[in-house]
Amino acid sequence: MFLWKDEFSCNVDLIDSQHKQLLEIGSKLYNIVRLGDKYDHYDEILESLHELADYTIYHFNSEEELMLSSNYLRYFSHKQEHQKFIDKVNDVLRQDIDEKQKKITMDIIIFIADWIENHILKHDVEFGKFLNS
Ligand SMILES: [Fe+2]
Ligand SMILES: [Fe+2]
Repeated sequence: MFLWKDEFSCNVDLIDSQHKQLLEIGSKLYNIVRLGDKYDHYDEILESLHELADYTIYHFNSEEELMLSSNYLRYFSHKQEHQKFIDKVNDVLRQDIDEKQKKITMDIIIFIADWIENHILKHDVEFGKFLNS
């Protein structure tokens, strides 16, 4: 899970390297859940969730700047998709993570996996094609 595949590539080095970093954060969360032990992982989970929140804002800004500077017509709808991701992560951070560590982490893992499928593989790849054309 969360291993880089060539099909994820947008053929834009900056975007690809940032997506790899995003997968890295997804892997960290997955590895915590996969342990399936009885230890408390609250600190690691919280740290990874904050990293996810910060990194996605940084990454979305990079993508959006590239869209603006290349006059990409789908800028606004793409930006709305990004906002949905930011809202979801903020929602998760507002919950009582300590009480429901495994469930919340699993939820966000599924959300990231879905994001790869439905955002990166579709909208980001589409933007990459535009940028390369
Ligand atoms: Fe992206
Ligand atoms: Fe995007």
